[in-house]
Amino acid sequence: MHRLCVIPGDGIGREVVPVAVKVLLRLLPDLRVEEAEAGWGCFERHGVSVPDTTLTRLRACGAGLFGAVSSPSHRVEGYRSAILTLRQELALSLNLRPVRSRPHVSSHPGVDLLILRENSEGLYSGREHWESEGVAIAERVITRAACDRLAADASRIARLRGARRITLVHKANVLPLTCGLFRDTCRDRLVEDGWSDVLDERLVDVAALQLVERPEAFDLIVTTNLFGDILSDLASHWGGGLGMAPSLNLGHGIALAEPVHGSAPDIAGSGRANPLAAILSAGMLLRHHWQLPELADRVDAAVDGFLTEEGSVDFGGETTKVIGQGVLQRLD
Ligand code: NAI
Ligand code: MG
Repeated sequence: MHRLCVIPGDGIGREVVPVAVKVLLRLLPDLRVEEAEAGWGCFERHGVSVPDTTLTRLRACGAGLFGAVSSPSHRVEGYRSAILTLRQELALSLNLRPVRSRPHVSSHPGVDLLILRENSEGLYSGREHWESEGVAIAERVITRAACDRLAADASRIARLRGARRITLVHKANVLPLTCGLFRDTCRDRLVEDGWSDVLDERLVDVAALQLVERPEAFDLIVTTNLFGDILSDLASHWGGGLGMAPSLNLGHGIALAEPVHGSAPDIAGSGRANPLAAILSAGMLLRHHWQLPELADRVDAAVDGFLTEEGSVDFGGETTKVIGQGVLQRLD
């Protein structure tokens, strides 16, 4: 029996997660769904953004679906980003962020790329401090072990998708130690695994330009935490924007699906949240964690069927409902 721990979180997370859960239950009727708390609302209630009970439940289920959380943009004593805490505590070292052209919502045809983002270190190491008055320091941590693990995952995923190109994205010209270690470790592993013919590299600024100019030229992109965060939002434009961008955090025997978007306070409560990012994230659990690619393909087909026939993802205050019902209908 499959088990799923759902963490709706804050804002539109609470609106899109129930829709994605319905989709999963339609495909896996015996799925056991358990709910857990995390995020800003949770911090206000309990003084902690990720309670231990949430970690325990996630570990027991082995699979999670996370909506979105709000984070204050200033430092709040005792508060730590919920999603970063989950990624670190559960050793979810890999983040998969696919972008594909979709009917009607994509302004560019032929895009089908996957960003593999290192998820545990880099500039998101959590090591930030005041060095002196007016001088704040953040430490960028890159380890050979994490880079090698990322490249090994990239190699496995490249085989699964028959990658035609693998692009390492870094900034080793100005960060020769950290990005140099990243590039060399990834390159060594991928060459050893037989990918030298399709292996390529780009400096992150050029990669950003080329993702705008010719997104269809990319296939698998392998990069560090911060660069992957930024480039995946940029690339998500070609897949129909943030409301359509799914992701999956992967660790050893554990996975946490998570739409790329945040809690969208500007539209929370209005019924206008697009649930497709959450639905497609749930589809990634089916494909990459539960190894049920046929069911994942059905989610993809239902989403594309909906977009083809309805031609829009904006139904005003009925958006969440209309899209949810439209996808569910096409799964029958
Ligand atoms: P956001 O992703 O919440 O929203 C950016 C823009 O995209 C907004 O205009 C929003 O209405 C729109 N949008 C996002 N998702 C949508 C959807 N499903 N359907 C329709 N429109 C959608 O990013 P923002 O505004 O920068 O951050 C808001 C809050 O979310 C902040 O507290 C931030 O810290 C948090 N956040 C959380 C993330 C997470 O939980 N993984 C990721 C990014 C931000
Ligand atoms: Mg982001």
